[in-house]
Amino acid sequence: MVQVHLNFRLAELESLADLHGIDVDFSGYSVDSPFMVVTLKNDKDASDWIKRSVLTRAIYEYWGEGTDYESLHKSIQSLPELEAYKSANDQKSFKFEFEKYGGNARQDTSARVSTIESFKYLDLKGPIRMKNPDEVFTVIEEYKAISDNVGGECPVKLYFGRQVQLSDRATGAVEKYDLKKRPYKGTTSFEAELSLASANIAQVKPGSIMYDPFVGTGSFLVAGGHYGALVLGSDIDGRMIRGKGQQTIGANFKHYKEAIQYLDVVTMDFTHNAIRDTLAIDTILCDPPYGIRESIKVLGAKDPEKFIGKEDVEINGQKAYLLRDYIPTKKPYSLDSLLDDLLDYASRRLPVNGRLAFWMPTANDENIATIIPLNSKLELKYNCVQDFNKWSRRLLVYINRGPDFNGPSNSGLDRTSNFRDRYFSGFN
Ligand SMILES: C[S@@+](CC[C@H](N)C(=O)[O-])C[C@H]1O[C@@H](n2cnc3c(N)ncnc32)[C@H](O)[C@@H]1O
Repeated sequence: MVQVHLNFRLAELESLADLHGIDVDFSGYSVDSPFMVVTLKNDKDASDWIKRSVLTRAIYEYWGEGTDYESLHKSIQSLPELEAYKSANDQKSFKFEFEKYGGNARQDTSARVSTIESFKYLDLKGPIRMKNPDEVFTVIEEYKAISDNVGGECPVKLYFGRQVQLSDRATGAVEKYDLKKRPYKGTTSFEAELSLASANIAQVKPGSIMYDPFVGTGSFLVAGGHYGALVLGSDIDGRMIRGKGQQTIGANFKHYKEAIQYLDVVTMDFTHNAIRDTLAIDTILCDPPYGIRESIKVLGAKDPEKFIGKEDVEINGQKAYLLRDYIPTKKPYSLDSLLDDLLDYASRRLPVNGRLAFWMPTANDENIATIIPLNSKLELKYNCVQDFNKWSRRLLVYINRGPDFNGPSNSGLDRTSNFRDRYFSGFN
């Protein structure tokens, strides 16, 4: 596993296991360790579980471990399954790989060759193939780093195994979707790593419909599309939707050769939602406006008095507000009310067991407990925090449990305590 975003790592692993109906005993999981040993039924379960993950690197069939090479070899040789493993692999093409954790980057090739030779007792008779071998045998070396920037010199722990599945991260998803290389992006675009992890925790499924009601430049649509969903977005700001010239949300999908996943985006106020009730939305994944880089607005007039009689205005015999180029007035709205609306919408529109996942900002400056929005039909499943010094944002993940769930509700409360004002005043 990777030793970053620790708040999200277990949530991703649990969500992916649940998505594939794989029973995993997490008792060996430790937040301090990049390794976990688990028992699974077969390679297929291991592969299904890890293939989509962005917060792990790979899963291996476990052959042994030790604190140095001598004890590693002993552990492998005493493995009850060793003879069965050897005969299953002895004619296959193979290669050896070394994964280092916490060590310095140097690789001494001749030392590596003699280390590989020390595994002679495995009796691998197949050809060595550096490109596309049938099996990759991997030595994982864990070092104690000397400091944050200086890797350790001598491994303190070793694992050996047969590679079963590399993760989405290890096969390049985070680089592929890196914002730096994305044709259309903006100040609100969400980074690749955590948007992909969010889609995994939200259990976005291939062939399902995912909706982002605050779509902006479409970062979450890209993540959902990557995992095979048909994606749909809306935003009150038409400029976001239209993009700039050739740079549009649709162009991003073409760039990734995933245009088939992209349904469309529409300009729409989420609180005046026009998506027909019979459209089955399987997952909602989004990043609602915090009021920092974009304002929180809904249709309506701040000062309704001023508009009395205006609905009668006609242009060329047509009501002005019915014309295509009519720009409706908007009024400010609170983040708390918008989040209440979002939870309510999810509880009405998601199927039972469907997930709503969204990001919410919180200030860390005052000793005020963070109040998480709750809706009586939704179970709060995860609350994964990403800390930035004076503020943090969290991914809140809910499961729709239906009308009989009767969970706690706190709609109507002032929960986000005017996050925008406090952000701009430096959280003093
Ligand atoms: C944090 S941004 C989302 C950014 C997006 N995840 C991206 O990849 O660019 C929030 C978006 O919500 C939109 N928004 C604000 N109020 C809205 C409303 N009432 N209905 C729909 N969208 C709204 C803003 O225009 C903004 O694009």
